[in-house]
Amino acid sequence: MTSYTLWGLLLLVLLQSVCLLAWQNYKDYRVFELQPRDESEQQLLRQLAREKPHWDFLGSRRSLNETGLRVLVSPTQVESLLTLLNEKHIQHQILSDDISELVLAQREENRRSKSRIQMPMIDVFAGFYTHAEINEYLDSLPQRYPQRALVKIFGWSYERRPLKLLTVSNGDGRSDKPVIFIDATMHAREWIAPSFALYIIQQLLDNYEENKQLLENYDWVIMPVVNADGYEYTHTDSRFWRKTRKPTKDPENIGTDLNRNFGYKWGQNDGSSADPAEEIYRGEYAFDQPESQVVRDVLLHYSDRLRFYLSLHSYGNYFLLPWGHTSSLPPNYYEMMEVADAGAMAIVHATNGIYSYGSGYHLMYPTSGDSTDYAAGVANVTVAITMELPAGGFLGFDPWVSHIEGFVTESWVGVRAMAKEVIRRYPPQL
Ligand SMILES: *[C@@H]1O[C@H](CO)[C@@H](O)[C@H](O)[C@H]1NC(C)=O
Ligand SMILES: *[C@@H]1O[C@H](CO)[C@@H](O)[C@H](O)[C@H]1NC(C)=O
Ligand SMILES: [Zn+2]
Repeated sequence: MTSYTLWGLLLLVLLQSVCLLAWQNYKDYRVFELQPRDESEQQLLRQLAREKPHWDFLGSRRSLNETGLRVLVSPTQVESLLTLLNEKHIQHQILSDDISELVLAQREENRRSKSRIQMPMIDVFAGFYTHAEINEYLDSLPQRYPQRALVKIFGWSYERRPLKLLTVSNGDGRSDKPVIFIDATMHAREWIAPSFALYIIQQLLDNYEENKQLLENYDWVIMPVVNADGYEYTHTDSRFWRKTRKPTKDPENIGTDLNRNFGYKWGQNDGSSADPAEEIYRGEYAFDQPESQVVRDVLLHYSDRLRFYLSLHSYGNYFLLPWGHTSSLPPNYYEMMEVADAGAMAIVHATNGIYSYGSGYHLMYPTSGDSTDYAAGVANVTVAITMELPAGGFLGFDPWVSHIEGFVTESWVGVRAMAKEVIRRYPPQL
């Protein structure tokens, strides 16, 4: 080997490590499953989830009654977690003592699978797309569907990424139709959510003949990525990041939970946190995040015509209705339940998939400052639902590329059924 090629090799190695430098490999991160045996142990775990922000309780903010509660911890936290679990006699087992191989394998699967895609065309089933790729795709749609697709920038993220909104119509020129608004990716790591939003777009545009009923009297407005900075960060740096990327008052902690930052009953301690270290940090004041402001502006802009607001999250198979902040129910709760019921029944018939539905407060846990409470409480949206898509992969947020098709096609069955029910119940006023 000549010294020339040796230098070349060295340079290559150096360049590769620079590219990988920002990327967190999760080396020796462990996942434990905890099995609370009674209500008091569940209480204790809930308390721990709040007091130990460095232990990432993946399941704690889901239903504690599921098979167990998963916790992701860095190598430096393992000992203190184990000490406490043993001290309190909480049943637990280790599910993985190093998730780095899995994270790398998923990254490789995505890269390999996407390498044959010719942007700006995308194949939803073939990979998870970055915010920049999704924007490129959105921008290509008005050329392909000049009468039916309109793209607008509705605002900018903290790191100045354009937040784009797509309006899909049937092109008949009527501009006063009622509206269905769907957003996705308020939480950065929930990667199936933007994939599903893209699939919905393709169903409405590319698969128009089959779905034209859905556009006859309604327009659809879709924002695939709300938390653009956080989502980009999960691609480049840290796969399991949840919050935004705007610094907080605490120099040690970056990011706010967008879905606790909305200005209706904002700031309750039951359902959000004032501590920037926590995953449910609500911000310094309501709407101090540019991304939640954008969703607010969309909700208010369409308020008069907005019959159905659907916010896509993962995971857990839930349709969560308002309210999150109180155990009482909104005035049209039972109408919303009928819509959720239509979605759940359609899915169970199609795939046997089971969705639970009801008020977020009762079904999951209290939340304050979430977007559906704001939609129902301030923007007067008729039906507001948070959809928790199915869990995938090892941690729930990380389905494999090969699972995308099954998840999004099943979810579309549910969303189409809910949309049909909304359209049937609330026809346009002529
Ligand atoms: C959780 O499980 C316990 C024990 O199986 C049961 O008593 C309790 O009612 C369940 N809670 C919910 C909210 O389902
Ligand atoms: C929502 O309804 C209330 C009560 O009718 C009304 O005062 C308020 O202005 C409405 N909000 C919007 C955004 O239209
Ligand atoms: Zn979420």
